[in-house]
Amino acid sequence: MLAALRWRRHSENWLGPNITPDVATGIGAWTESDLWRAMHEGIGRDGVRLYPAMPCPAYTKVTREDVSAIWAYLRTLEPVHNEVQPNQLRFPFNVRRPATSTWDLINFKPGVFQSDPTKSDVWNRGAYLVEGLGHCGTCHTPKNITGGDRGGEALQGALLQDWYAPDLTADPRMGIGHWSTEDIVRYLKTGANSFDIASGPMAEAVENSTSHMTDADLLAIATYLMDRAPRGPNTAVALAHDDTRMVAGKAVYENRCAPCHISSGAGVPTLFPRLAQAPLVQSTDPTSLIRVVLIGSRAVATSAAPTAPAMPSFGWNLSDTEIADVLTYVRNTWGNAASAVPSTDVSTLRGRVSR
Ligand code: HEC
Ligand code: HEC
Repeated sequence: MLAALRWRRHSENWLGPNITPDVATGIGAWTESDLWRAMHEGIGRDGVRLYPAMPCPAYTKVTREDVSAIWAYLRTLEPVHNEVQPNQLRFPFNVRRPATSTWDLINFKPGVFQSDPTKSDVWNRGAYLVEGLGHCGTCHTPKNITGGDRGGEALQGALLQDWYAPDLTADPRMGIGHWSTEDIVRYLKTGANSFDIASGPMAEAVENSTSHMTDADLLAIATYLMDRAPRGPNTAVALAHDDTRMVAGKAVYENRCAPCHISSGAGVPTLFPRLAQAPLVQSTDPTSLIRVVLIGSRAVATSAAPTAPAMPSFGWNLSDTEIADVLTYVRNTWGNAASAVPSTDVSTLRGRVSR
């Protein structure tokens, strides 16, 4: 409950600009070519560069026909008078696009999606959705120091503020290499499958976006994701089970976590996520895991799966060391292998989330 409330409070800061046809505060005075210019070039009606609230590097790939369709739809909305303060936008959208064109030179090349003739139509449709309107890379692609996408690392997993958007390549350990196309479709449609349950920013992406997509489009996205090459051979080795952190972590796990996630780490499909061989659990960056244990989390509720199970918060009854140890255990048991979680990471995040 607390976690759900906390999340709602965060979400309120996640403001998008007003795009209803209100003349004063929305886009009521815009023309269709203004919208095209905004989406394709990232330039607003008055000639100013837009905040990357619009993920320009993604939206530039959207075709003219789709922008026209979006325009036609936006015109049917009820105008709402609402002044939005874009400085409240949350990461990564709050990174101001510099006034100079340097950012653009490095990070942004306007251009509609070009299909790859060597791939199937379904693959190309998936690529178009992922790279364009789905803007999956806004969260899942590692960023360079200026906030632009790091070249050659598309969808390999990235840290958002206190969340980790996992690797979406076919990497068998950190990515979704063990998932089938059906697993991906189910996750994007309902927010849950036998591997994982979406929370945080991904719960919102499922609720507001992917759960409304057609099955054909979801299948296209899955087809494209299944074909993303992993970042390279995986060399992580699990910690020994007699390591003191592993021993301490196992005790906490059996006592506090096994009632839901099961001793074998298998979880209960669609209720309690699987921790054994789960990509998120073995991510290079354990931020999301620490966050979930500290403050809990409520999974996404969609029309296909209306009751959302919740993960309780343990921030009040487990110490930093206990949380670090239990996560170290989870990351190195049942075939999992990943770096140990230092208790200093837990205390740092505890300081931030309990602000
Ligand atoms: C606003 C940021 C954001 C956007 C946009 C976004 N994601 Fe995510 N995604 C996340 C985060 C954060 C997680 C981890 C969720 C969790 O901890 O449960 C995630 C998790 C996932 C997972 C589960 C991976 C795993 O290993 O468990 C899949 C699959 C996924 N996203 C696909 C997509 C696709 C496809 C798109 C585009 C259509 C997309 N995401 C857009 C933030 C985002
Ligand atoms: C009452 C049942 C329950 C208990 C006890 C519980 N969890 Fe969870 N856990 C959940 C649910 C439900 C989710 C999914 C929440 C979501 O997606 O927002 C979850 C999610 C997680 C995740 C994120 C997994 C992912 O792939 O998204 C991790 C990691 C996790 N739990 C670890 C633990 C640890 C470690 C403990 C013990 C300290 C624990 N859980 C105790 C129910 C529980």
